[in-house]
Amino acid sequence: MIVCSCHAVSDQALRAAAAGGLSHREVVAATRAGTDCGHCAEAVARIVQDQGPCRGANACPGCPRRASA
Ligand code: FES
Repeated sequence: MIVCSCHAVSDQALRAAAAGGLSHREVVAATRAGTDCGHCAEAVARIVQDQGPCRGANACPGCPRRASA
């Protein structure tokens, strides 16, 4: 499904970039999603957050998605 219609960026592309360890800022820079009209910005952030490594105090010890320090 296309998430960013301005740059034809799919949810799959965003998930792949986030799963590769890119931060939200890096995903946006790599895909350009959210850099034009901004209507997709919230959806992009949510997808990256859901797919990317866990960070902060809520990251569960031992979880494979936990970000390395
Ligand atoms: S829909 Fe993504 S920047 Fe416009």
